[in-house]
Amino acid sequence: MPLRKTSLAVAVIGTGQRAAIGHHVASVRTDAAVTAIVDTDPVGLDRGRQMFGDVESFVSHRDLIAAGTVDAAIIATPDDTHADIAVDLLRAGVAVYLEKPLATTLADADRVLVTAAETGTPLYVGHNFRHSGVVRAMRSIIERGEIGEVKAVWVRHFVGNGPDYYFKDWHADRARTGTLLLQKASHDIDIVHYLARGYSRRVVGMGDLMVYGGITDRRERPGQTMEDWFSFDNWPPASNTGLNPVVDVEDVSMMMMTLDNGVQASYQQCHFTPDYWRNYTVIGTEGRLENFGDTAGGVVRVWNRRREWQLAGDVEYPIEGVTSGHEDADVLTMTEFFDLVVDGTPTVVSPLAARAAVAAGALAAESLRDGSRPRDVPALPQSVHDHFASTTRS
Ligand SMILES: NC(=O)c1ccc[n+]([C@@H]2O[C@H](COP(=O)([O-])OP(=O)(O)OC[C@H]3O[C@@H](n4cnc5c(N)ncnc54)[C@H](O)[C@@H]3O)[C@@H](O)[C@H]2O)c1
Repeated sequence: MPLRKTSLAVAVIGTGQRAAIGHHVASVRTDAAVTAIVDTDPVGLDRGRQMFGDVESFVSHRDLIAAGTVDAAIIATPDDTHADIAVDLLRAGVAVYLEKPLATTLADADRVLVTAAETGTPLYVGHNFRHSGVVRAMRSIIERGEIGEVKAVWVRHFVGNGPDYYFKDWHADRARTGTLLLQKASHDIDIVHYLARGYSRRVVGMGDLMVYGGITDRRERPGQTMEDWFSFDNWPPASNTGLNPVVDVEDVSMMMMTLDNGVQASYQQCHFTPDYWRNYTVIGTEGRLENFGDTAGGVVRVWNRRREWQLAGDVEYPIEGVTSGHEDADVLTMTEFFDLVVDGTPTVVSPLAARAAVAAGALAAESLRDGSRPRDVPALPQSVHDHFASTTRS
């Protein structure tokens, strides 16, 4: 239920690289402020004070709950901690902005959704990619009917920043992330669902650890975050050093999806490409679209007349927003969160969709590690589905 308060005290839990999203709290709402930080690492708390000033600080989210001083919290901790922290906060009546992925297993994802439905505490999952310029452009083209009825979606994901983003800390460890089909691909699985207006019903996976498993130079990086080691000079891929002690997630992952409305989709992810972007092809009954670049400066092209190959397309739309990163999408995402929390305004980003992304990614990884045998997505309890359907815009 909405909070309807005149001022909102917000905690940031996990003051690592992503905690900077907390800066948008005060920028999107003058009546809200970050008043507390939580991090299990004292270095993290120091980093949090540098970001948010002299706010209350805690080494555990349970201490934060016991203090009873905040109305809402942003959870930006490693993926394996999401479900437990979210469930505790929801039970305590603290509105939750939970970073993606919702959880690392379908059982945990469902635990979070069931708790939110039972308690009525607002839950929002940070699938900010829905609010990016490239996705808004593609969705508008589809919704205007320019390519007819969507039948197939193909996504190629070139994760050139892969070694620095995913193989030099906890992200590389299955025990912490489950799979990069969740940690990285949950954004894109969500967008496949969003563009095709359906959720995955059956998935199949294939992939391997092809490059980074062979690098023996490993180390812990206490107190550091990704920005401390990120460099375009870390090239070619096999020259990377200082990988996480455990590296057991795949660096090439592919999955295929049959959606509940019959749409056929595929997603490919590679972590040793030189470039870093994603390319979508959406094919409808009367045309297809494809993006070139995925931030401002890029374009989405539409082909809707029959011909041999032609690069320019029949129509071209510029991608709006930032030229790099996703700050514009983050602002829209944070705005949606507070509109939900304060006024109960239905959101574009949906916990149901976040659960659908976890289901597809986690089950595709199971399939990938089990001879590519297909997996079917189990349904959510109807009452839980209905709870979120009323706070979500289609
Ligand atoms: N939506 C996006 O665009 C986006 C972008 C980046 C990261 N993320 C998400 O944000 C989350 C955090 O990623 P990151 O890159 O900031 O990680 P990070 O490693 O840089 O930071 C994580 C922080 O959480 C702290 N922490 C660990 N366990 C904790 C616990 N139980 N309680 C409190 N603090 C704890 C760590 O000490 C660290 O300071 C991930 O789930 C990631 O998927 C989302």
